[in-house]
Amino acid sequence: MPVLTRRRLLEKAAVSAYSAAVTTARTTGAAAAAATAVGATVAACDDSPGQPIPEPTLGLSFPTGFVWGAATSAYQIEGAAAEDGRTPSVWDTFSHTPGKVRNGDTGDVAADHYHRFAADLDLMKSIGLSSYRFSIAWPRVIRDGKGPVNQQGLDFYKRLVDGLHQRGITPMATLYHWDTPQALQDAGGWENRDTAYRFAEYAAAVTEALGDSVPTWLTLNEPKTVVQNGYLNGGHAPGFRDPAKAYVVAHHLMLAHGLAVEAARPHIGGSRIGPALNLHPCYPADESADAAEQTHLMDGFENRLYLDPVFRGEYPRDTLEAIAAFSPMAQYIKDGDLKIISAPVDVLAVQYYTPIYVTAGGGTVQKHPLTEAFWQQIYPRGLTDILVRVKKDYGDVPLTITENGLPTPDQLGADGKVDDAGRIAFLRDHFAAAHAAIAQGVRLESYHVWSFMDNFEWQEGYEQRWGLIYVDYPTQRRIPKRSALWYSDVIHANKV
Ligand code: FCB
Repeated sequence: MPVLTRRRLLEKAAVSAYSAAVTTARTTGAAAAAATAVGATVAACDDSPGQPIPEPTLGLSFPTGFVWGAATSAYQIEGAAAEDGRTPSVWDTFSHTPGKVRNGDTGDVAADHYHRFAADLDLMKSIGLSSYRFSIAWPRVIRDGKGPVNQQGLDFYKRLVDGLHQRGITPMATLYHWDTPQALQDAGGWENRDTAYRFAEYAAAVTEALGDSVPTWLTLNEPKTVVQNGYLNGGHAPGFRDPAKAYVVAHHLMLAHGLAVEAARPHIGGSRIGPALNLHPCYPADESADAAEQTHLMDGFENRLYLDPVFRGEYPRDTLEAIAAFSPMAQYIKDGDLKIISAPVDVLAVQYYTPIYVTAGGGTVQKHPLTEAFWQQIYPRGLTDILVRVKKDYGDVPLTITENGLPTPDQLGADGKVDDAGRIAFLRDHFAAAHAAIAQGVRLESYHVWSFMDNFEWQEGYEQRWGLIYVDYPTQRRIPKRSALWYSDVIHANKV
């Protein structure tokens, strides 16, 4: 029998899954059957290591044991918005408000992962992922954010975690990826200190149930994005444009992080816990002293406001002073809060997408090619810089990259393939940037590509495609893109 490389098998699987799915969908009209066909076919792939990587490689080997993974979040992929007792979150409300999300898209169905998770896990296995970062939906587990656990909601995540272990994939769970229960929002949301305590109760309930079956727990995903998009520019739920509120929210989010670490600790045994922060390296746009000063200020808002309280037990003074001009944040910081926020963490999850260039006037400019996401400049070197800087300023905490990726204008070809060469180039250069940080002594342990599959990209709806796996939404077929095949080769060679 001729020996096929793993890449050929995956490619073959993608095409045959595609035609099987099309045939099934045509003959029976059953989208669910089509998706099952995808999972089943792809899962049958060979897994033999050491095959040649056909894309040009840089010849950079990663340390033995380096972990390769991919990430998603609950609202972006699960769908099943009203099933098994799930109550609405701020994102249900926001996406159902006309004009808030492109094309009026919502996460009601999304990638239907709630029903198709087993086939999705098979697909992860066939690529060779060794870690999968997902998030747990707060309003699935605690209805309306208060009161007893909703067992049916929790059981979904038990099945997911078990399914990952069965396939040899390590789970990494985020407790909060922006889906605040709407009932808590109605009571003031993150402006209300009480929400931080409700979050800690939820964190305790989830970790009590799943504990050390999840080796890495992440508290909050990108608190800065909640502050900036949810409360400053209004582009995300809950959609405020209120600088005064925004930084009260920032403090309560950080408090929620600290309380959750405290609440989870007794339940997680030897597992690790930490926050997931999106860090933006800030550079002066020119050589002037003013640009340097403004860059430092910007760095406070982008990075230090979230890193300093966790790792140094204090908010950066210059940032607090700047905030005092427009927000009463300082009045909301109670004695003992910073002690709670700086409870020791075991890991820092870094998410990197773009650098920021700051002008002498405090504005920003773009200096590098942009992706389809208007805010994203392609600058791999920024990843090296931010990782090295974290080590220098905050010590030797173990680091994981929990998000990095880009949207590309992917299309399903007549041949059943999706050729996303741009994603391959982007990831290759960012992997190399991570490699450079490791070479400089950074304790980087793993890398999760954003995203495992196409999904609901918040206010952009389904228009932007960030996945390694193409999702054909009308049929819910999954098709591994060329980047998924390439990534599979990288993982098996542990080399880019
Ligand atoms: C990050 C979010 C993630 C996804 C990517 C593109 O900020 O955490 O959910 O939307 O951006």
